[in-house]
Order: sequence, then C-alpha cells, then structure tokens
Amino acid sequence: MSDPRPQDLCQSVLAPPARVSIFITLTIREGAEGAAVAALAQLPALKRSVGFREPEQQLSCVAGIGSRFWDRAYPHLPRPAHLHPFIPLEGSKHSAPSTPGDLLFHVRAMRFDLCFELVRQLRLALGDALESADEVHGFRYFDERDLLGFVDGTENPEPPVDDVVTTLVPDGPYTGASYVIVQKYLHDLTAWNALSVEDQERVIGRTKLDDIELPDDVKPSNSHVALNTIEDADGTQRQIVRDNLPFGNVGEGEFGTYFIGYAADPDVTEEMLRHMFLGNPPGNYDRILDFSTAHTGCLFFVPPADLLENPQSFAAAPDDPSTASDTDPTPADGSLGIGSLRRSGS
Ligand code: HEM
Repeated sequence: MSDPRPQDLCQSVLAPPARVSIFITLTIREGAEGAAVAALAQLPALKRSVGFREPEQQLSCVAGIGSRFWDRAYPHLPRPAHLHPFIPLEGSKHSAPSTPGDLLFHVRAMRFDLCFELVRQLRLALGDALESADEVHGFRYFDERDLLGFVDGTENPEPPVDDVVTTLVPDGPYTGASYVIVQKYLHDLTAWNALSVEDQERVIGRTKLDDIELPDDVKPSNSHVALNTIEDADGTQRQIVRDNLPFGNVGEGEFGTYFIGYAADPDVTEEMLRHMFLGNPPGNYDRILDFSTAHTGCLFFVPPADLLENPQSFAAAPDDPSTASDTDPTPADGSLGIGSLRRSGS
C-alpha cells in the first residue's frame, strides 16, 4: 500500500474559508502539562460532538503547540525540525513583539455559536491547567475585506495542489504537519482614512474597489504586496496560506486584523516579516505598518492529527534526520543524536 499523503494526515489546516473564527492562544500552568495533553487528546471528539449536529456549518479546529510547551509536554518525542519561539523583530520604526503562547486553537465555522461552544468545551477539558488566554473573535467582513477596506486573501495559493505543497510537511515522520505564525494587529483608522484612496492603494499595492495588483512600475517598493512577494534562489515564489480575519470593538475604538499564516517551513513567513519590519533593502519597511501595530507574535507547530489524539503511538527510532531541530547542536560524531518517529504498528 502506498504511503498516506500529507493531506490525509493533517489537521484541518486547509479548511474552507469560514465566516467566523476564534483565535485563542493559551499558556499552561507549570506542572499541568499532563492535563493539557489529555485535553488535546480530547479535541477531535469534542469537535465531533459540537460539529456533528450541524455539519453544514463546517466547524473545524487546528491546534498548534509552542516551542517551550513542546519540551515540557512531549519530552519523549524528537523536536519538530523548525519549531522555535517567535523571533521578535526591531526595525528602524516598527517592531514585531514575541509574546507568550503554549497552545493555539484556530477555530473556524460558518456560525459563531459553534466556535464558541467548542472553545467552551475545550476550556472545561483544560480545567485548572489554563493559566492565561488571549482570545480574538474574528468575523468575515463585506467582500472578504479587512478593516482597511481592501480585499484580503486573493493571492493565496490555490487548492487542491498549491495550498497543500505550501503548508504541509511533505514527508518524514511528521508528514502532514505544518507551522503557523499569528500576530494581532491594531489599526489607526483615523490616520488611514485621512489618506486618499490612491495613496491607500500605493500602501497595499492593489486597487481598492476592484482588487487588481498595481503594475510593477506603479507599485511602490515599500508596498505590502511588493515586500511580501518573495522568491527562492531558483526564482520560485515562496508562499504561505493566510486566513486573516478582522476583529474589533467599536465602543473602545479597537479595529484590528488577526494575521494567521501557515507554511511547511516557517522561514517563509519569517522572511516576509523581516521584509515588513526590517525592510528590503534594510530601512525600506512595509508602509502598512505606519497604520497597523503588531501587539502579539507567536509561532506554533501544528502536529499531524493522530499525534494529538494518541501521542504515545509515536515512538522514537534512532537516526532520522528529518526531525533535526533548528536549534539542536549536532553531536561531534556527525549524527543528529535524536530519534525519528514511527507510528507504532506501522
Ligand atoms: C497580501 C492585508 C499582514 C503576507 C495582502 C493583501 C492585503 C493584505 C489586503 C492583498 C490581497 C491578497 O493577496 O491577499 C494585510 C493586513 C495585514 C497583513 C491588513 C495586517 C495588518 C501580513 C503579514 C504577512 C502578510 C504579517 C506575512 C508575514 C501577505 C502576502 C500577500 C499579502 C504573502 C500576497 C502577496 C502577493 O503574492 O501578491 N495582505 N496583510 N500579510 N499579505 Fe498581508
């Protein structure tokens, strides 16, 4: 029988576009790792309990695991190759902070009540293990627009091939895994709305009404689109899959975009962030940041679905390079000094 494909092993990373999301990053109390791992194992069953009754609402949930929590909770498993804490960036004018996050839940559905109910059940499952939470309720705005008024998400890699290649680890013991970076941005809409539409279009790099990319000779080099269009050494475009949503609180004058980007290798998203905050060339930072401030920043590993439900079924076997960590020093004998993962019984 042929090996399973990444898309057969992943969590619902590539769920269809939803109307609403809850993005919730949590920290877990020291000593409560076992309880949190047990709650994660319940996630698929909880999702079925809430979602089965209303399948047309397409409830889905992706769980991500932060670097420090991985070491605390899954010490028997080799570290995923690219898992590390979010790298903070300090540009000449704008910065991207790194904020705490042991777990991420990205809950999506067509209706808010299902998202809310699933998060409520997860909260019950976590019990006292929960230390703190940053929770954002995102909604789909008119025409797929963000609160800056621009259509957001147009140039995402398309299903059913490009999105899979972009987001899912293609082989090795963690086949079907992914990495996700999240940031909570707040906009200064007063300053933004003081710009003419033409100036706003030069900030983004696309037209506002029709959502057409500006020609290269018109699009400024510090526009959002120019700085986020990146290529590898062969000239192949390096991409991520985004599922940003607006959020806000009108009474408090809070207007935001929750950025969420999935990639098979988080270095792609990190290169985009370096362009945005440090600039490309250095100093030529993303003009969108003059109107949008990043308040959080976290990186998570999104394990294959069965690792969450049954972590004990992943057993270490020696000498598989695909689980080498970005940060692990290589032993003097040249081996990686870590195990690989084999699903027991396979
Ligand atoms: C494109 C909005 C943050 C990566 C776009 C577009 C908009 C937008 C309106 C053009 C339409 C599209 O193709 O989606 C925003 C807002 C953000 C934000 C409001 C937060 C304030 C980010 C961040 C990253 C990013 C943090 C990466 C780390 C991209 C990429 C594209 C894009 C890769 C497509 C570029 C292309 O190939 O044309 N964004 N974005 N965005 N954004 Fe963002």
